[in-house]
Amino acid sequence: MTYLTVYTDADAPETLLRTEDPAEVAAALKEIDVRLRHWPVVDGLADDAGQDEILEAYRDQVAKVVAEEGYTFVDVAQLHPDDTPDWAERAAAARAKFLNEHTHDDDEVRFFVSGSGIFYLHVGGKVHAVLCEPGDLLSVPAKTTHWFDMGTTPDFTAIRFFHDDDGWVGDFTGDSIASRIPDYDTIAAGRS
Ligand SMILES: [Fe+2]
Repeated sequence: MTYLTVYTDADAPETLLRTEDPAEVAAALKEIDVRLRHWPVVDGLADDAGQDEILEAYRDQVAKVVAEEGYTFVDVAQLHPDDTPDWAERAAAARAKFLNEHTHDDDEVRFFVSGSGIFYLHVGGKVHAVLCEPGDLLSVPAKTTHWFDMGTTPDFTAIRFFHDDDGWVGDFTGDSIASRIPDYDTIAAGRS
C-alpha cells in the first residue's frame, strides 16, 4: 500500500502530512499532477523471474498503458540483495545514481511488481515522498523535479515505461534538498 509523507522544502523541513489512506494519497498527488494507479499483483511469479516472464505476467495491463499513453519502450529494472562480494558496492552505486534532485525530458512511469522505493516529488514548495509498494503504478510527468531512493538495501522489481530511449537521462538541478529530507531507510523505519 502506498505510504505518503509530505514535507515543506524549508532549510528545516516540517512534516505536513503522513498517510496510507488511498483517497488522501490520490488527492494529494492529483494536486501536483502526479498519477497513481493500482494493478492487482500477479501471484506465482518466482523471485528470480526475468524480464520476459514479468512482462508476460502483466501483458494486458502493460499493453493498455502503452496504447493509452503512447510509450514506445517497456523494460524491467530490478535489484535484490545477493551473496556476491560486490553486492554492497553495486547497491550503493545504484542508489546514488538518482538520489539527487533532477528532471527528465520524459515521464517517469514505474509499476512496482515487488519490493519498494520512494519517489520524492519537489513541487510548489513541498516535497511529496511517495513510498511505492507492489501494485503501485506511479506516473511522474516530464520536467517534474524529483529524486528516487531505493534505500541502503535495495530490493525491488519495477516495470518502466518510456517514450524515447534517452528520456531517462537525468538533468540534475544541483539543489541539496534531497539531503535535508528523511531518506528511504528513515521513512520506512518510522512508518508504523
Ligand atoms: Fe528520475
